[in-house]
Amino acid sequence: MKPVTITTLRELKQAGQKITCLTAYDYSFASLLDRAGLDAIMVGDSLGMTMQGHASTLPVTIDDVAYHCACVARGVTRALIIGDMPFGSYQVSPEQAFESAAMLMQSGAQMIKLEGGAPMVATVRFLVERGIPVCAHLGLTPQSVHQLGGYRVQGREADAAQRLRADAKQLQEVGASLLVLEAVPAALAKAASAELVIPTIGIGAGVDTDGQVLVLQDMLGLYPRPSPKFSRNFMQGAESIEVAVKTYVEAVRGKTFPGPEHSFS
Ligand code: KIV
Repeated sequence: MKPVTITTLRELKQAGQKITCLTAYDYSFASLLDRAGLDAIMVGDSLGMTMQGHASTLPVTIDDVAYHCACVARGVTRALIIGDMPFGSYQVSPEQAFESAAMLMQSGAQMIKLEGGAPMVATVRFLVERGIPVCAHLGLTPQSVHQLGGYRVQGREADAAQRLRADAKQLQEVGASLLVLEAVPAALAKAASAELVIPTIGIGAGVDTDGQVLVLQDMLGLYPRPSPKFSRNFMQGAESIEVAVKTYVEAVRGKTFPGPEHSFS
């Protein structure tokens, strides 16, 4: 099976085929997801909550993500591995971001993800010009949870929606390859996805993004705290984890997940 690249992701968008992605943080789960046919595996800073038991992603360090990227990379032959840049590892300067991104790429990531819009444009350009594929992340950006006043839906007001669409275009212009849209109204995610050439991956962004991502522990019902409304427990009715993950892949490709009950207006 040919490894997934940024070109594959763009081709999937052009062909109208949904991109499937889940988070993973270790060798065994990464290997299982890869065998199930996931297009991308995200080593998210959500590991701070799912692996480390913190209440937010803020305590995660670049060493933590690099360690988990290396574990995941040993289990994957096909899926594209996206390493998430944690809080404080890229916001100071493009040079700081490059050093952090290089750590993740040397640990096995094939793309890095960072949160933020206009203030991150120069950094994204800097990374892309130096050979690092970037996934941007707009909408609910969990590293800004205290600035946002909680884990709330973003982009409901007309000016915020307009800003998100403008930020997305700017990030694309400076070379971002992929865009995560988290917890935004489905209509906004649909409009942004339609006007971008690069693929969008939604989480709580409705069914019309170019792909979907969920936190693995949420979709397997393993996380001991309440899961967000936009997630679904795919273990319900499944006889094994493999079946649950394959059901997720089929549901995303068949556009039966997310449903209206997992989306925001
Ligand atoms: O940290 C994470 O896992 C994420 C994705 C769920 C988008 O940012």
